[in-house]
Amino acid sequence: MTQLPGLLDTEAIRKDFPALDRVIHDGKKLVYLDNAATSQKPRQVLDALTEYYERHNANVHRGVHVLAEEATALYEGARDKVAEFINAPSRDEVIFTKNASESLNLVANMLGWADDPYKVDEHTEIVITEMEHHSNIVPWQLLSQRTGAKLKWFGLTDDGRLDLSNIEEVITEKTKIVSFVLVSNILGTHNPVEAIVRRAQEVGALVLIDASQAAPHMPLDVQALQADFVAFTGHKMCGPTGIGVLWGRQELLEDLPPFLGGGEMIETVSMSSSTYAPAPHKFEAGTPPIAQAVGLGAAVDYLNSIGMENIARHEQAITEYAVKRLLEVPDLKIIGPVTAEDRGAAISFTLGDIHPHDVGQVLDEQGIAVRVGHHCARPVCLRYGIPATTRASFYLYSTPAEVDALVEGLEHVRNFFG
Ligand code: ALA
Repeated sequence: MTQLPGLLDTEAIRKDFPALDRVIHDGKKLVYLDNAATSQKPRQVLDALTEYYERHNANVHRGVHVLAEEATALYEGARDKVAEFINAPSRDEVIFTKNASESLNLVANMLGWADDPYKVDEHTEIVITEMEHHSNIVPWQLLSQRTGAKLKWFGLTDDGRLDLSNIEEVITEKTKIVSFVLVSNILGTHNPVEAIVRRAQEVGALVLIDASQAAPHMPLDVQALQADFVAFTGHKMCGPTGIGVLWGRQELLEDLPPFLGGGEMIETVSMSSSTYAPAPHKFEAGTPPIAQAVGLGAAVDYLNSIGMENIARHEQAITEYAVKRLLEVPDLKIIGPVTAEDRGAAISFTLGDIHPHDVGQVLDEQGIAVRVGHHCARPVCLRYGIPATTRASFYLYSTPAEVDALVEGLEHVRNFFG
């Protein structure tokens, strides 16, 4: 068995994840390499969800009865856990949403309804990058169409990095917001935050970071990032689906208007007008995803029990090994950085002219789950002139043996297609 320095005790960890025990297609052991799409869930998270529904289920912030108080304490307790996990200065800066897409859309809509000095209009500019997930492109296109603001973006270098050579022309005095991904879901690139934040601060632009592919995999410190907003989702970090997070600086959350109106986001309501509750409640209209937040809190506990530094080290070792082994496969081309240092654990590639959907299907027949397609980042495929990629993505329970299984699987694909 291949041993690499820095690996976690995956034998023990995998026992926590029931889905990893699945045997599929008549006896093939599941090799789950689709973690960038969603992670598997540990028993500890599944138990927290069951216990919540079996014992504490009630609506939050509304009741005076025991279950309502327990549910509220669990929901707000999850907020405390998330705040600590990302080193937020205040728990009130943590807004629960449905997913990262909703978090990103929330910021676009806060700005869309804002007055000066945040107002986005035809005299202002919005900056994104060519490697964004559609969820960090479309909300800005919508905002730009609605307000007349100009949408600009950083292009990509041939080796899958951001081209920041024209940073002063892209981010200008007119820029209101710069929104970019910390780790790309398709290229795996880990972007240089500091240079972008420094330039944005120089011109007084706000910064939003999409940390969906970072929060599950490495320590995330929103204060060190020096951004104004950070978005991520729960289901990629061992939590349930239906829960996302938007962290925002307190003064911005105080100043910016709410997007969704409804119960629990108000202070008072009359027939002619309303005043709003302070953040985070101002941005959490209606019954929130209570059980999902509780599940995310359990996921945070779980990740902390392993240690985010340890998880990052494990994934670095697996990624380095995977890049090396994949490059041994004839005709395989990695789309994105080929060094393990400045990349995350999602690796996209093409295999000669075999269509990625065929690659994915033949791998699936061998029990290997990868994602194929444009990964909701179609501009990246257009940039590199490819219709799609095959993507293998790793997590804390991934093993070198699974990398070997992928490489063998790809040999099988090549033989199959001659
Ligand atoms: N954003 C997720 C992915 O990259 C769904 O697969």
